[in-house]
Amino acid sequence: MTEKDFIPKAYSQSIENGTVTWESPSNIALVKYWGKKKDQIPENPSISFTLNICKTITNLTFTQKERDNDFSFEIFLDEEKKDDFKPKIETFFKRVEVYLPFLKDFHFQIETSNTFPHSSGIASSASGMSALALCLMSLERSLSVVEVTDEYFNQKASFLARLGSGSASRSIEGDLIVWGKTDVIEGSSNLLATKYPYQVHEKFKDYQDTILLVDKGEKQVSSTVGHNLMHNHPYAQNRFQQAHDNLNALKLILESGDLDKFIALIESEALTLHAMMMTSMPYFILMKPNTLEIINKIWDFRKDTGLHVGFTLDAGANVHVLYPKKEAKVILEFIKDELVAYCQNEQYICDQIGFGAKLINN
Ligand code: DP6
Repeated sequence: MTEKDFIPKAYSQSIENGTVTWESPSNIALVKYWGKKKDQIPENPSISFTLNICKTITNLTFTQKERDNDFSFEIFLDEEKKDDFKPKIETFFKRVEVYLPFLKDFHFQIETSNTFPHSSGIASSASGMSALALCLMSLERSLSVVEVTDEYFNQKASFLARLGSGSASRSIEGDLIVWGKTDVIEGSSNLLATKYPYQVHEKFKDYQDTILLVDKGEKQVSSTVGHNLMHNHPYAQNRFQQAHDNLNALKLILESGDLDKFIALIESEALTLHAMMMTSMPYFILMKPNTLEIINKIWDFRKDTGLHVGFTLDAGANVHVLYPKKEAKVILEFIKDELVAYCQNEQYICDQIGFGAKLINN
C-alpha cells in the first residue's frame, strides 16, 4: 500500500449539508513511538492497547460553500469555542487535503468532548484526531460513487489520523494495534496502523489500565518537540533498533502469557522513553516526585505479593498501572489505599482494553 492508494479518483455525489458523529478511544503504547521522520513517518514500530473508557466524541457538521483557497471551520470543546485549537486542525487539513479533495468545498463545525477531564494530562490527540479522521471518512463515503469497503474505510481513517497525530493511527480499531514497519510483524506499515495479527494469550484479553493523574498540568514538552529531540540524539539508532527487538520479544510473550516478562518489557520501554528525554539536548525530566513514589510502591507491592502489576508511562508524569483482570480486586484495593494519595486531587481513571471507534450517528 502506498500514499497514492488514498487519493480518491473522483466524487460524483453531491451533498449540501449533514452531520456525523464518531466516538474514538485513546490508546496506551506498550512499545513506544518516539522519533519521527518527514510526513509523520515513525522512526520505529510501536504497539498499543486500545482503551475503552477514555474517548473523544466528535460531531462534524458540514455545509457546502463556494470553493475558494481557504479551509473554513470552527472548533468547539464542550460547547466552548476553541480558537487556540485551530492551528493544529489547519495543519492537519493541509496535510490531508490531497487525500480529501473536498475539504475546501465545505464549512465545518467540529464539536468535540472527551470522557476524561481535559486538563488531566491525558493526551487527547490520539482520540481527537482519530475521531475527526473518521468523521471525514464518513463524509467521503457519502460522496463516493464507488463502494467504500469497511476495510478501506478503516485503513484510510488510520492513515489520515496518523497525519494528524502519529499515535492517533492506533485508535481506529482494537484491541492490540501495531503502527510502523517491522519485519517481525506481517502487514505492519509506516503509513497506517494494523491489528496485531498473531495469537494472544487470554490473560491479555481483558487487561486493566488504571491511570493515575499525578500531574494534570499542560504538557511540559509537546510530543512534536519531544520527537524532534530524537534527531541527532546520541542513542537514537540503538533505541530504534531496540523497539524492533522488543516487538519481536513481545510476540512470544503475548503468545505464551508470560506476565513477568511482559511487565519487564513494558516497564523498560516506559523508562527508556523517559531516558531518551533525559539524555537529549535540551534535556527534560517529565516525571514528578510522585511518579517515582508510585513506581517504587508498585515494585514493593509486586515483590511482597507476587501479583502481576506493572506500569507504563506516556510523555508526562502520569502513571498507567497495568494488570490482568483476574488479579484486579486486590490490585485495585492497593491502588486506592496506597497510590491514589500521590495523584493530584486523588484523581484516577479505571480503564481497560477496548475494541475501537464507534459510529454514533450519520
Ligand atoms: C509517548 O502521537 O502525540 O505517547 O505524532 O507528534 O502527534 P505526534 O506525537 P504523538 O506521540 C505519542 C508518543 C507517546 C508514545 C506512543 O503513544 O507510542
